[in-house]
Amino acid sequence: MAVTAVVGLQWGDEAKGKVVDLLAAQMEIVARFNGGDNAGHTVVNPLGTFKVRLMPSGFAHPHARCVIGPGVVVNLGTLVAEVETIEKAGLEVRSRLWVSPRCHVVMPYHPAVEAVFEQARGSARTATTGRGIGPVFADKVSYNGIRLSDLTDERLFAQRLHVQLALKNPLLEAFGRPPLAFDPIFKETLAHFDKVRSCVREPFGLLHETMARDGAILLEGAQGALLDNIWGTYPYCTASVTLAGGACAGLGIPPQRISQVVGVAKAYTTRVGAGPMPTELHDEVGETLQREGQEVGTVTGRPRRCGWFDADLVRFTAQLNGATRLALTKLDVLDTLPRLKIGIGYRLPQSGERLWHYWELDGHQLECCEPVYIEMEGWQCSTRQARRWEDLPPQAQAYLRQVEALVGVPLGYISVGPQREATIPLHPL
Ligand code: IMP
Repeated sequence: MAVTAVVGLQWGDEAKGKVVDLLAAQMEIVARFNGGDNAGHTVVNPLGTFKVRLMPSGFAHPHARCVIGPGVVVNLGTLVAEVETIEKAGLEVRSRLWVSPRCHVVMPYHPAVEAVFEQARGSARTATTGRGIGPVFADKVSYNGIRLSDLTDERLFAQRLHVQLALKNPLLEAFGRPPLAFDPIFKETLAHFDKVRSCVREPFGLLHETMARDGAILLEGAQGALLDNIWGTYPYCTASVTLAGGACAGLGIPPQRISQVVGVAKAYTTRVGAGPMPTELHDEVGETLQREGQEVGTVTGRPRRCGWFDADLVRFTAQLNGATRLALTKLDVLDTLPRLKIGIGYRLPQSGERLWHYWELDGHQLECCEPVYIEMEGWQCSTRQARRWEDLPPQAQAYLRQVEALVGVPLGYISVGPQREATIPLHPL
């Protein structure tokens, strides 16, 4: 299994945290390669329910080393709080955590600048998580970023911070917001940094030494392929690369070393924030999915938009990621529905019967397209106790086989509840 990537095939929130936690039992290292604390991963294990944003979801396995690679942007306040929460629960984590000094730091002015961007966009706002992710990545590519390594040299850090406040404060003031003072930011950032200083060490050597002896490494993607900055529903997307390919740059891993890619998708579709979502439901079924699936954003607390499974999207994102296994989660949320639909493509106004694919359409066309569905019978009984394929009702088996055929990737895992054991390992790694 050597190097396995776990990535989201929809708009994030596919329950990747559970899949990572499950697979981490077999891994020496669990490594994050993208995003920042905009991610929200829920991990349920015997120690309790943890909602982590930065910590790799394998932290609950005491043997697993946790890596935050240079492709991740780090909010130090969040990192310190997560380390402390995990340690309070009785799990030592500092000695097995590697955070790359190349990681860019989310500074207090990043969320403030983001709020200005959102204000300026008005009704076309992205509805971001508000964690400053767009601005920190913008600073990274425009050479305005502050990296963790800069915090080891107070003079250098002070210099960089002065320049950034000189750039950011006039913008904040122009939009009627108070300017930010140097001193509290400088002191607070260094105080946070001090608490995790021992973990700030480049993981490149650890990763390559482990690969050299074929040790098992799990690459944990945050968000989902449809939020990818290039292939997602731009500009309603996130700032980083959310694809398995992003793990190569985001961690320093050669592409040919990734031998398995587990693509995680929900048995239906959800999205949090603005942007097109062709199979979205505004009816009772949508409400049922929202209620049964407890579809509320982990980071923002916003209700998630819900809709039918869109096989056209997931086929595309599985191809984009080179998925070798599909992990389908939250099947049990469909338990009460008498009929189910699966999207297989789209029709556009004035283009007759032609079936269009996501990758052919721009954002505007995605907003106005009509999804085409196939319909199936529901099973209307609980799947929560199913632990083997044979435990599933025939209608659920038929639904899963249809999804598998449409997506074109073998089903590896089926999840029927939040706990580790509520999983059917159909073709495990
Ligand atoms: P940002 O990543 O905070 O800039 O937000 C950009 C878009 O990505 C918004 O629509 C967010 O709701 C969405 N987003 C970012 N992170 C996640 C996530 O972990 N799960 C689901 N949606 C996310």
